[in-house]
Amino acid sequence: MLKIRTVRHGSPEYWSTIDLRRRILRIPLGLDFDPDELEKEVRDLHVAAFSLAQLVACLVLTPIDADQIKMRQVAVEEGRQGKGIGTELVLFSERLARDRGYSRMILSARDTAIPFYERLKYNVEGEPFEEVTIPHRLMAKNL
Ligand SMILES: CC(C)(COP(=O)(O)OP(=O)(O)OC[C@H]1O[C@@H](n2cnc3c(N)ncnc32)[C@H](O)[C@@H]1OP(=O)(O)O)[C@@H](O)C(=O)NCCC(=O)NCCS
Repeated sequence: MLKIRTVRHGSPEYWSTIDLRRRILRIPLGLDFDPDELEKEVRDLHVAAFSLAQLVACLVLTPIDADQIKMRQVAVEEGRQGKGIGTELVLFSERLARDRGYSRMILSARDTAIPFYERLKYNVEGEPFEEVTIPHRLMAKNL
């Protein structure tokens, strides 16, 4: 059974999410995190999914302004992808954002993940751009 909840920045569980994010999102691109980048995340919400107490997926929510919040760093453990975990994690995060008063979720989607977000009713906005060396599109959804 999947348990999804927020974890505190700097806690041991937060560092487990960094390990997962590093393995799924950075190492395959030959990149790593910059300590300053992680320090700034103290202002963010960190959402994590656990199966039998083991971390299997995570994402970060960064407030942009009074209405908008940005979903970042969506990562599902390699052997657990394609089983609905990413979908549950995003739906939980949308409810969390709505409860906190945000009315719009935005995100930078890797081209390969666009079908995943489209299935969750996100729309592509604007032109393609590059981030962490690969093509991305801005996507958004009203909550
Ligand atoms: C993208 C990701 C977060 C999706 O989470 P997930 O748990 O694997 O996805 P789910 O099982 O909830 O959803 C699966 C659906 O999304 C779609 N989907 C998921 N990953 C996809 C991909 N890489 N390409 C195309 N479609 C994808 C499938 O169509 C699938 O629909 P179906 O069940 O009708 O076949 C996850 O695969 C992942 O961590 N990928 C690597 C890192 C990444 O790309 N992160 C996103 C950065 S923007």
